[in-house]
Amino acid sequence: MKNDRKKFYTELERLCRTPEISILKSFTQHKGTPTFVHCRNVAVYSFHLAEKLGWKIDEISLAKGAMLHDYYLYTVAEKQKETNLSDYRHGITHPQLSLENASKVFQLTPKEKNIIRSHMWPLTLFHIPASKEAWLVCLADTYCAIREMLGDKEELDPEIHSAWIRNYAKRKVQHALSFT
Ligand SMILES: [Fe+2]
Ligand SMILES: [Fe+2]
Repeated sequence: MKNDRKKFYTELERLCRTPEISILKSFTQHKGTPTFVHCRNVAVYSFHLAEKLGWKIDEISLAKGAMLHDYYLYTVAEKQKETNLSDYRHGITHPQLSLENASKVFQLTPKEKNIIRSHMWPLTLFHIPASKEAWLVCLADTYCAIREMLGDKEELDPEIHSAWIRNYAKRKVQHALSFT
């Protein structure tokens, strides 16, 4: 059975227009990437990956879980300055905080709760992704975070990521060779 692309993107756009999700535009992470842009990137890549792998997923839960996975509602750099929050501490605490915040404004299914709570696995040892949707968000999150930390601050396009990986690898090899 095929995934319903229209259903996924309709739900994603609907969520992005809500004030509860729009609030993510006020916060940044990964060297200045707006949390809204990051969550949208993770949603788009999670769906893209599901298509590539041929995995049948729940379109609504994937869109919702991805958009809410980082719903911790602060700017990481500011919080770190104010409270001496280390990267590690932020890494292990924000999934639970995101789940608590998201539960206050959205009705979440057990699957959606697990997507949010387990997205930093294996850092969050006992909170393991328990569905295809949770694994997709966990993987897409890592990939998008790396891209964003390497300088991509705008919305990522899954259709061009293979070319980006090739070009990045090429640049790295050329850089390495220039030292030999
Ligand atoms: Fe996160
Ligand atoms: Fe994230």
